[in-house]
Amino acid sequence: MKVLLLGATGNLGSRILPALLTHGHTVVAYVRSAQKLQSLLPESVFRQITTIKGDATDVNAIKTAILDSKCDAIVTAAGVAAMAPWAKSDLPKIFQAILQAVRQAGEERGQPLRFWCLGGTGVLYYPGTQSMLSSYIPVFLEHRQNVALLRELPPNSVDWSMLCPGNMTPESSDFNVPTKTSQGKLIAQAANPPSWQHLWVRFIPVIGKSIEMAINFSRYDTKLEQNAELIAADLEEGHDSRFVGTTVGIISGSK
Ligand SMILES: NC(=O)c1ccc[n+]([C@@H]2O[C@H](COP(=O)([O-])OP(=O)(O)OC[C@H]3O[C@@H](n4cnc5c(N)ncnc54)[C@H](OP(=O)(O)O)[C@@H]3O)[C@@H](O)[C@H]2O)c1
Repeated sequence: MKVLLLGATGNLGSRILPALLTHGHTVVAYVRSAQKLQSLLPESVFRQITTIKGDATDVNAIKTAILDSKCDAIVTAAGVAAMAPWAKSDLPKIFQAILQAVRQAGEERGQPLRFWCLGGTGVLYYPGTQSMLSSYIPVFLEHRQNVALLRELPPNSVDWSMLCPGNMTPESSDFNVPTKTSQGKLIAQAANPPSWQHLWVRFIPVIGKSIEMAINFSRYDTKLEQNAELIAADLEEGHDSRFVGTTVGIISGSK
């Protein structure tokens, strides 16, 4: 696919970019500074992409970038959610602008665009319920607003998927193409965290489920490169992906 990538200079975005090229996609990086991106990437990789300078809060500029570049898919790793429930970040503004641009561009094109975005483990459901994990441990709550915006979209307006990782750390700072990872593929499933371990502590009144979650959470630590690989590989499925219209929980195959 031809992919507009936002957040390409960030921890995850800089790994998604070479993963997209490895999977045969064409990359247009929408960044605030092409120089910053160039300084991060090997020259051989930077030469394979196009850059467009712009801000991720500018609906019209993003829409124009999608339409003028004839992109079929948009991936965003731009902006970072605030951790504390009382803290604020630019993410809601960024997310709202990107989603609006993707929707409008799809309307003008006459077909929905494929869209991958980022949430966190907290917006996945506690297994067997419709309660988000962040209802029990209230961190990174801004992702909840973003999920709400996705679920309010009219049917067939955006073919979205939201990847919901736990803590991600780098495996390496090698951004060459083709990408290599020694960590293996992630196991992914819609809406819930895969391989959740139920523990007896969940029966402790009031705090039981929160304790169970705190114990489970570190099992969902993954490498940035594994998450980048998942998105790039899934985009090969185009609009037929099993993850269209859902949040996506992931765990390392080794956990
Ligand atoms: N890291 C984790 O462990 C983790 C876990 C779960 C979920 N997530 C989510 O994953 C996403 C990516 O995380 P990350 O660690 O890769 O973040 P990051 O390294 O801080 O990268 C953020 C990216 O957003 C770009 N950006 C910020 N404001 C922008 C704006 N107004 N216009 C254009 N670009 C803008 C930054 O560009 P500049 O270089 O121009 O500043 C940068 O490329 C976030 O939504 C985060 O909440 C992360």
